[in-house]
Amino acid sequence: MCGIVGLVNGHAVAGDLVTALGRLEYRGYDSAGLAVAGPGFAVRKVVGRPAALGAEFDASFTGRAGIAHTRWATHGRPDARNAHPHLCDGVAVVHNGIIENHAALRASLVAEGHAFASDTDSEVIPHLIAAARARGAAPVAAVQEACAALHGAYAIAVLFEDAPDRVVVARQGSPVTVARGAGASAVASDPAALAGFCAEYAALEDGDIAELRGAEVRIADRNGRVASRDWQSMEAAEVAAEMGAFGSNTRAEIAATPAALRRTNAALAGRTLPAQVAAAERLVMVACGSSLYAASTARAWIEQLSGVPCDLEVASEYRTRAAPIVRGTVAVLVSQSGETADTLAVQAHLRARGVPVVAVVNVPHSQMARTADLVWPTSAGRELGVAATKSFSCQLLALVRFGLALAQARGSATPAALAAVEAELTALPGVCAAAERLEPQLAAIARRVASANEAIFIGRGPAASIAAEGALKLKELSYIRADAYAAGELKHGPIALIHDRSPVIVCGGVNDDKTLSNAEEVRARGAQVIALVEQAAAARFAPVAHDVVALPGSGLGLVFAQAVALQLLAVHAAEALHCDVDRPRNLAKSVTVE
Ligand code: M6R
Repeated sequence: MCGIVGLVNGHAVAGDLVTALGRLEYRGYDSAGLAVAGPGFAVRKVVGRPAALGAEFDASFTGRAGIAHTRWATHGRPDARNAHPHLCDGVAVVHNGIIENHAALRASLVAEGHAFASDTDSEVIPHLIAAARARGAAPVAAVQEACAALHGAYAIAVLFEDAPDRVVVARQGSPVTVARGAGASAVASDPAALAGFCAEYAALEDGDIAELRGAEVRIADRNGRVASRDWQSMEAAEVAAEMGAFGSNTRAEIAATPAALRRTNAALAGRTLPAQVAAAERLVMVACGSSLYAASTARAWIEQLSGVPCDLEVASEYRTRAAPIVRGTVAVLVSQSGETADTLAVQAHLRARGVPVVAVVNVPHSQMARTADLVWPTSAGRELGVAATKSFSCQLLALVRFGLALAQARGSATPAALAAVEAELTALPGVCAAAERLEPQLAAIARRVASANEAIFIGRGPAASIAAEGALKLKELSYIRADAYAAGELKHGPIALIHDRSPVIVCGGVNDDKTLSNAEEVRARGAQVIALVEQAAAARFAPVAHDVVALPGSGLGLVFAQAVALQLLAVHAAEALHCDVDRPRNLAKSVTVE
């Protein structure tokens, strides 16, 4: 959440800062701001997206070092006052994270005579640095001193009026990478923001402080010792799929699902597991949001193939209880970004207790990937739409492939059963491409769903989890209230919600007869049933459903086809309501605060 950028270049940086910041917009888009140094600070802040900062800069913006920020508000309204950079006495700071002791720090700074201009937690940082500088500390030492007073999470980039040739960076708990080469040095929350500006990048570790001057980056660890970090070619920082004629990144990313699944298959087919993982007696899968639904959908296949019981945990909840850890447990953490604060906290908790951690992760340079015992990559490619789409499908595939590898290592499934699953997985790109061809029908249904204030999604087994993901997609993209239930649970209370014309999206799947009965029950109460079922079941659902979407695939394939269909349904409902599909209100793609 929030994106930060800093650039030190041989020429004026303001325009480049706006370009780089635009690539971080997925991290938040409430407000944006930038500052360039020398002579004095030139500052511009706007409410809204980075592009609103504009491309034209007058002579006051000729500085060759600068910092910029795109905000997802935590403390204080999303207005220009609270937009970053925050300034104090010749120090400008952009911050991603949360300063937990900001209230106490602010109180003591105010007592010392400091005046604050915003409601943010972040503003204490420039005040602390300025105070240290006033006591005679050099730029890096002043940042070090200020950081020692901070509790919480931060990635900061700091600009100095009286040292306009540099940017100082510090990290604790929030992701940040530095970059160098091609006559420049830089910092960004995500290295992809810096493509074209530098030749190579490295992720900072917690406690690191880096000084960027010219093309040079000096990194010191928390003890002030020179630190060598893992530098990678900027070419490794993936660029996004082209939006092309699709009109939104989200729609383009759904269309990119077949290609992404092919990549996942290529990366993981035939891959074996280390003995420590293969010997698991129990799995615990931990994730948030769509990643949790991918894990929950895949769970049945993992258990059936490997015979290993598999628990499922919401990361933020798992942290709040001291769950006993069963001996022989292997943790499987699932995350697109590899940055989600709650999931990372669980990772640290489990690793500290000796639990091997498998990271099913999409971003290869993320903290989760860097600190896992085994990385099981989802290989979806860069995803810019805030809603998970192709990454969800690739997570699901990667997880089923994990179950397959576990089964292979343990000899828990017959060669014929393994070969049958392998054939299903290889066919998935074609199944998803065929599901996408149903878009015109789904768009027409979506327009009707958009006219309702609410929708209910039901399914059984893996289809119950897919239904939950479908409800999440609809609410985050279109803001329509959407609930999902295991179809068998309807009669235990939620059926009271059904009234005349309520849209009920039925995800057919395992045990279709029972799901069909549930569809009849809601239809009898006036619901508008929309059935997403396999082709072979279409005729049986036709008398009950207002719409039958006859999907390609069966078994695993059907679940993937349903995922694509539900994503398209949500996108078209959102478009019908004129919602910004790529930038849903109040959301950010990486949830780096707890
Ligand atoms: O990066 P992660 O997979 O860890 O993110 C988890 C959730 O924040 C994410 O899936 C979120 O629910 C998306 N908005 C779903 O579309």
